[in-house]
Amino acid sequence: VNCQSFEISSQADQPGVEALLDKAFGLSRRTKTSYRLREGNQPVRNLTRVLRDSENGIAATISYWPITIGAARTKALLLGPLAVHPACKGRGIGLQLMRETLDAAREEQHRLVLLVGDEPYYARVGFKLLPTGRLSLPGPFDPSRFLYLELARDALQGVSGLVIPPHRAAL
Ligand SMILES: CC(C)(COP(=O)(O)OP(=O)(O)OC[C@H]1O[C@@H](n2cnc3c(N)ncnc32)[C@H](O)[C@@H]1OP(=O)(O)O)[C@@H](O)C(=O)NCCC(=O)NCCS
Repeated sequence: VNCQSFEISSQADQPGVEALLDKAFGLSRRTKTSYRLREGNQPVRNLTRVLRDSENGIAATISYWPITIGAARTKALLLGPLAVHPACKGRGIGLQLMRETLDAAREEQHRLVLLVGDEPYYARVGFKLLPTGRLSLPGPFDPSRFLYLELARDALQGVSGLVIPPHRAAL
């Protein structure tokens, strides 16, 4: 695996990406609340990367989705899903994918990133637990897995409410 060549994913990668995600998260992954924020939404193209591998097809994938928070309609990103092929785990690929894309997001003036995932893992790139009750999602979620990262100073300050996909906020 050439860990240096993360590429922006193309339409042709989609079947391989879906297969990897089914393997990583199981076939019921679409019932998760995070997916309510992806339905009818489009990932941010420049931040949606894959690692292609001749043996395993898609060796890793990450994507980010635009979201809108609360009555103030604060713009943010939802990170996920992130998955690394079982054959490629433990080589730093997941962390490197996140570092590169979070740097790119910062350069593109994105200010705030949310995700639902394992705090001990995502803490390595700076994610922190959200204060309980401040933000909510359109479905059930485990508050001990609801995390944020400020790309701009104090980006979470004053932000509260329900997280929804942007097209719902426009209604
Ligand atoms: C979680 C996942 C993305 C990690 O990718 P990876 O490329 O293997 O991880 P990295 O090599 O970048 O990081 C490895 C380090 O993170 C640690 N780590 C991995 N998963 C972890 C977790 N869930 N919680 C805490 N630490 C974790 C490893 O122990 C390792 O630590 P070390 O460097 O001290 O040895 C990958 O295992 C995966 O796809 N899992 C299934 C899907 C999933 O759980 N996705 C994200 C969670 S919402």
